[in-house]
Amino acid sequence: MTSNHHLAEFRGASPLVLPSLLMCDFGNLEHEIRRLEAAGVQGFHLDVMDGHFVPNLSFGLPVVEVIRRLTDLPLDVHLMISNPEQYVSRYISAGANLLSFHAEVVEDAGALLEEIRTAGVGAGLAINPPTPVEAIETALPACDFVLVMSVMPGFGGQSFDQVALEKLRDIRSKTGDQFLLEVDGGVNESTIAACVEAGADLLVVGSAITSQSDYQASVEKLTRLAHAAV
Ligand code: DX5
Ligand code: ZN
Repeated sequence: MTSNHHLAEFRGASPLVLPSLLMCDFGNLEHEIRRLEAAGVQGFHLDVMDGHFVPNLSFGLPVVEVIRRLTDLPLDVHLMISNPEQYVSRYISAGANLLSFHAEVVEDAGALLEEIRTAGVGAGLAINPPTPVEAIETALPACDFVLVMSVMPGFGGQSFDQVALEKLRDIRSKTGDQFLLEVDGGVNESTIAACVEAGADLLVVGSAITSQSDYQASVEKLTRLAHAAV
């Protein structure tokens, strides 16, 4: 299943906290990246929003390209956009190492997952809280990972929806130990252990890191809590 060495790296590092830059200080983007690197993170989660699939706009290709130039760490790009098939190749060229799009907006997820994989990039399928696991079941063999949303995407700082836990357990039971599972939204010191217990490998954390003054202390504490829950 490993089309890309970052997938194996992430699997080996599981459970791993991945910071989302969504609510960082974009006026000092390079400094924010350096602070997170110094805090020991092993990759970045980048939230691309189109103001259509989700009720918010964040950033797109130019910013992903800038971040690619600023860091050698793997970039996990989460496309919250309506027509991912029109953009996937451009985000691959921009430097994504893992790339996910939403099951809610595509008819044939398999073909798009295959396109991503063929490019040597980890291919992920994301599902919103109301979307059942059944909706992606046939596509699972084509996925390098699944991103289970624990909030309705669009904004950082929302509270964790427990429905994600059942879905993580369900996907884990359908895919086995080696499959990579990511959870995103409302992951913080109070919710991270339950995510790991439910089978999550990649724990996306936005505000619980970037709203804190000491990134290293936050990353270390979250990482400790995640490891204690294995
Ligand atoms: C939600 C995004 C998430 C979000 C995480 O729309 O996909 O990655 O920024 O932020 P927190 O951790 O604050 O929920
Ligand atoms: Zn995200």
